[in-house]
Amino acid sequence: MINDKKVLFSGMQATGSLTLGNYLGALKNWVTLSDEYECFYSVVDMHSITVRQDPATLRKRARALLTLYIAAGLDPEKNCIYYQSHVSGHAELAWILNCFTYMGELNRMTQFKDKAAKHADNINAGLFTYPVLMAADILLYQADVVPVGIDQMQHLELTRNLAQRFNAVYGDIFTVPEAYIGKTGAKIMSLQEPSKKMSKSDENPNGSIYLMDDPDTIRRKCKRAVTDSVGEIRYCDEQPGLRNLINIYCACCNKTPDEAVNEFAGCGYGQFKEAVGEAVVSVLSPLQKRVAELEKEKGYIDSVIKNNAEKADYYAGKTLRKVQKKVGFPERVRG
Ligand code: TRP
Repeated sequence: MINDKKVLFSGMQATGSLTLGNYLGALKNWVTLSDEYECFYSVVDMHSITVRQDPATLRKRARALLTLYIAAGLDPEKNCIYYQSHVSGHAELAWILNCFTYMGELNRMTQFKDKAAKHADNINAGLFTYPVLMAADILLYQADVVPVGIDQMQHLELTRNLAQRFNAVYGDIFTVPEAYIGKTGAKIMSLQEPSKKMSKSDENPNGSIYLMDDPDTIRRKCKRAVTDSVGEIRYCDEQPGLRNLINIYCACCNKTPDEAVNEFAGCGYGQFKEAVGEAVVSVLSPLQKRVAELEKEKGYIDSVIKNNAEKADYYAGKTLRKVQKKVGFPERVRG
């Protein structure tokens, strides 16, 4: 608990261009959580280098992501928005947790297997121990809840196991975190292959709407979205493309699928797709404008980065000192 609130931790990688799915499925919901929880939202740049990055691009994207957090409505006075690499406790705790993690556990991680297959020329040890760094992120702040997508559940389960394993030896050191499954948080699928998640690494750019796409591109992608030959606006499993468009529409307009289906009863797909396009534009245009404004406020963003890194470091340090003492590292002589 911090300030009588439960602690929430989540993070995003600054690799690739963020999509509408990242926004509607994650970021938009994060904003609603900051009253209830003491929130830490990290730009996890240390995770990014498990895959080779161009340094200038990574730096630029990390800054853009941090700016986007604020533009999306996360108040940096209330939410700790910071770069993972600015708080050395992440690496320090990750090392200790590495020594409590079994090779077999990491070998079972499906994301490792996928990424190793994709980057066969660079299967580095960081890629292998990535889930341990993620566990360190979460445990460092004694997080109670972690909003994550299904694809990260296995990593969260490992985090819980590590916390319990450590606690079993050394006493109650870590809070054992729970997954936060959002009440709304639509899962947005690809516009071209509605059985696949909308992804920033999709090779087909028409499958994803990127947060920085201009209005015409957004409209065009919605218009070209894959639907079906039923020809009727219904919300059902048999029409996955349409269902995805309805989810997008509803998430943008804060409506329920029933309301959307009623609203467009008797309309053709073309007309509905146009409405979806407009709904997305009406959400993304103001967001893009806010990003552009914030990008000009260099001093302000810099101060957010500095202050929140200090805040994160303070809480991280508290946990780290406890852990270091428990495992037997010598106390530091002060003064
Ligand atoms: N691994 C997560 C992803 O790729 C990002 C992440 C890193 C994260 N550390 C985290 C998410 C801690 C939640 C909590 O999406």
